Formats: sequence, C-alpha cells, structure tokens
Amino acid sequence: MAGVETPASPTAEGRLTEEFAVPSHVEAERALMAEFAERHTSAGRRVVLITSGGTKVPLESRTVRFLDNFSSGRRGASSAEYFLDSGYAVIFLHRHRSLYPYTRLYSGVNLMDALQMEGDGGSSQVTVDQRVLPNVASVLKRYRAVKEARLLLPVEFSTLSEYLHLLKAAAQALSSIGPKAMFYLAAAVSDFYIPASEMPEHKIQSSNGPLQISMKMVPKMLSPLVKDWAPQAFVISFKLETDPSILLERARRALDTYRHQAVVANVLDTRRGYVAVVTRDTQAELAVTEEDARAGVEIEEKIVSNLSAAHGSFMAQQG
Ligand code: PMT
Repeated sequence: MAGVETPASPTAEGRLTEEFAVPSHVEAERALMAEFAERHTSAGRRVVLITSGGTKVPLESRTVRFLDNFSSGRRGASSAEYFLDSGYAVIFLHRHRSLYPYTRLYSGVNLMDALQMEGDGGSSQVTVDQRVLPNVASVLKRYRAVKEARLLLPVEFSTLSEYLHLLKAAAQALSSIGPKAMFYLAAAVSDFYIPASEMPEHKIQSSNGPLQISMKMVPKMLSPLVKDWAPQAFVISFKLETDPSILLERARRALDTYRHQAVVANVLDTRRGYVAVVTRDTQAELAVTEEDARAGVEIEEKIVSNLSAAHGSFMAQQG
C-alpha cells in the first residue's frame, strides 16, 4: 500500500532563503571577507569570525517599533582585542553602534569632557585629558598598529535578516581556509520574529487596544554552518541562561545537537566574572579572581587564551 506523502520540514537554510530577504550589500561583504581570509592565511595567520551584539526585530514594515535585547557587544569587542593580541586576524560581525574594539574602553566617556582647548580662534590647539581617557596613548598605538596591518575587518548588521545572511556569507567566505577558521558566536540573536508577509505595513495603532503578537521561531544557523557552510572550521557557540541550574545541561545539549567544538556557557548576572567552556570531553571553569580584577584582567582574556590553545590542537589533529 502506498504511504501518504508528507512534505519534508524545511531546513534552516531553506527557511533562510524563503523567509528572509537578502540585503543588497551581502555579496560585496562576502568578497571582502574572502579576500581578507586568503590574505591573512597566506601570511600564516589564523582567522576568527566574531559575532557581537543583539539583533533588532521589527514589528511593522515601516518600522516604528522593534524588539531588542540586552546585549551591549562588550564580550565580542573585548574578545576581538585579545584575539588580535594572540596573532589572529579578526572579522568583527557586529550590531551597528554596539561596542567596538578599543573604543569600547571609553564608551562611558563624554568626548567633550576629554578634550581641552589651549588658545583661541584659528590658532587654538585641542589636546586630550588623559585623566578622562586613561591609557589612551597606548590604546591608540595598539589600534593604529592593527589598522595599518589591516588585521581587523568590521562588518555591520542591524536587523535579524542582515545578521543571518551575513553569517552565511562569512561562513562561505571562510570555507576555503578550512580548520584555520574559528567561529566565535557571541551575538545574542533573537529566537523569534514576525515574517514580512504577516507584518502590518504601517504603525500599529494604540487606539486598537492591547497588542497581541504571534512570532515564529528563527531558524538556528549553527546547524547549516557546522554541517554545510564551513564543515572544517573550529566552531564555538555561546549559551546564556538566567537560571544557573540548567546552564551546563543546555550547553551539553547544544553540543549534542550541532556537533561543533565548544560552548561558552554564561549566566546573565555573572557573565563578566565567570564562564564555563564546555567541550564533548572537558569542562573548564574560568573566573576573574579579586586579584585579576585589581590588575584589570578581564574574563575574555581567559576565554580567548583557552580557545586559541584548543584551536591549535584542533588544527594539529586535522593535519
Ligand atoms: O554583549 P554582552 O552584553 O557582553 O553579553 C554577552 C552575551 C551574554 C550576549 C554572550 O556571552 C552570549 O552568551 N551570547 C549568546 C546568547 C545566547 O544564549 O544565544 P542563544 O542560546 O539564543 O543561541 C545559542 C548560539 O546559537 C549562540 O552562539 C548564537 O550566536 C547561535 N544562534 C542563535 C540563534 C540563531 N538563529 N542562530 C544561531 O546560530
């Protein structure tokens, strides 16, 4: 007896193509990322793709309102600096206006308070008050060195759709360098969105009363990234929870589901001082001690040191 045919459920990649319009600049960014990866691997460097910041999910086509999340981009921006210090070339796929490597150190400063003016009129000299921007000369030196060597390639996204397509483009651009590529997926990507076909065009009217919205699940990009787009790469995902008691189990479940190399597990309230790096066989607890804090050591320095060593072993195993 012939069975009843049911349509196969669409893959994450299929849903990306069907449901999220391709932003116009994706092809140009893909070419820049591919050239960057080739240039730096030819010079003997490894390349890390860092995702950073939250995503914005519009509620109307002519967007007045959107859903956002807490992510500042600090994890991604500070990690970028430590990867650069460790000899990596960095593609920094970040949310527009989220924290940026080096400038993130002064994100709370009003620039006008940091500048001093000597003289008046056309001959005035503007100088920097280093009490307001501590260590700015050495930070500027590091920033300039990175810029001159073209070691940092910034790529920006704002919306969820831009993030998803740029991540795919990055993965394809890095596939040619195989195990020398690391994916460090620190962005807090929305799990829910409203498809374009179901979104009202105009501003939702408050005169219509309380708002009820129904949102679809966003396809998880880790799956095609690990299986299809960059199968030889070293892939690190992040897992954030607010309940510490479920954190490690969720991290292990992610490893079982996606079969990638490691999960950095963190809890919202303690994320600046403690993470666990979980692999299939190991679990490393990393923490900022009081002594570290006094010396200005950040948790990202420890995460990057742990993962760059693991990436080295991974590359050696791949031959
Ligand atoms: O930016 P900060 O304020 O410094 O905060 C840093 C951070 C807390 C955001 C960061 O350390 C962190 O934990 N990021 C991941 C947040 C999270 O829990 O993501 P998730 O469980 O929704 O996704 C798990 C992984 O899958 C993530 O690596 C994510 O990048 C990836 N993902 C998510 C959704 C999606 N559609 N596709 C994906 O590939």
